[in-house]
Amino acid sequence: MKKDDSMTEREERRDTDHYIAQDGSFWGVREAVPADLNDLVTLDDITKPVPWGRDAIAGFIGCVPGVFVLYPSNRAGMTLGGPVGFVIARWLGDECEIMSIGVHPQYRRRGLGRMLMETVRRTTLAHGKTSWILEVREYNTPALSLYKSIGFLEVGKRRDYYIDTGEAAILMRGDTTNGDPQ
Ligand SMILES: CC(C)(COP(=O)(O)OP(=O)(O)OC[C@H]1O[C@@H](n2cnc3c(N)ncnc32)[C@H](O)[C@@H]1OP(=O)(O)O)[C@@H](O)C(=O)NCCC(=O)NCCS
Repeated sequence: MKKDDSMTEREERRDTDHYIAQDGSFWGVREAVPADLNDLVTLDDITKPVPWGRDAIAGFIGCVPGVFVLYPSNRAGMTLGGPVGFVIARWLGDECEIMSIGVHPQYRRRGLGRMLMETVRRTTLAHGKTSWILEVREYNTPALSLYKSIGFLEVGKRRDYYIDTGEAAILMRGDTTNGDPQ
């Protein structure tokens, strides 16, 4: 995944992070707006074993850091389609907490989850916070692998945390000053 910095000065791209995936495809990550809510609810339904639902997601739109959506774009940074991924985060004291992340199954393993996390990392650092945290199901291998691949470390475990499966929650913490090497 490469951050496309050549695009940052163009007016229409303000507040959007642009990325190039390893397969050469272009993607944008921007703050969600109320008009994204239907797409977010659909993605939440598709990607999460226990969806948050419309009201919970709506409550975070407009917050800082809040909700970010990822969508396909062209080389010039123009939007080519609706959101295929999202991330929801909040401040927790001096830290940022990743609360939810999802990428549509058809678009996984292209680096899009990492792009969403990178935008949250940059936002967190821009607010002077150097630590981010999250909890993840113990058998959620894709998510655990994603978080470890960007430097999160396991710092604790809550047994029998998830009611639907009885899985433990793995608590993880990362350093937001450790950016993507690309
Ligand atoms: C977790 C999730 C967001 C990852 O999205 P993604 O776009 O596929 O992730 P990326 O392509 O950016 O993967 C980044 C790294 O994570 C790891 N990873 C991702 N999916 C993986 C999988 N299925 N198996 C093993 N490692 C995986 C790899 O290290 C990968 O890097 P690589 O492809 O260069 O090897 C996606 O699988 C998803 O939406 N899952 C359902 C929702 C969920 O579980 N959310 C997390 C809990 S809130």
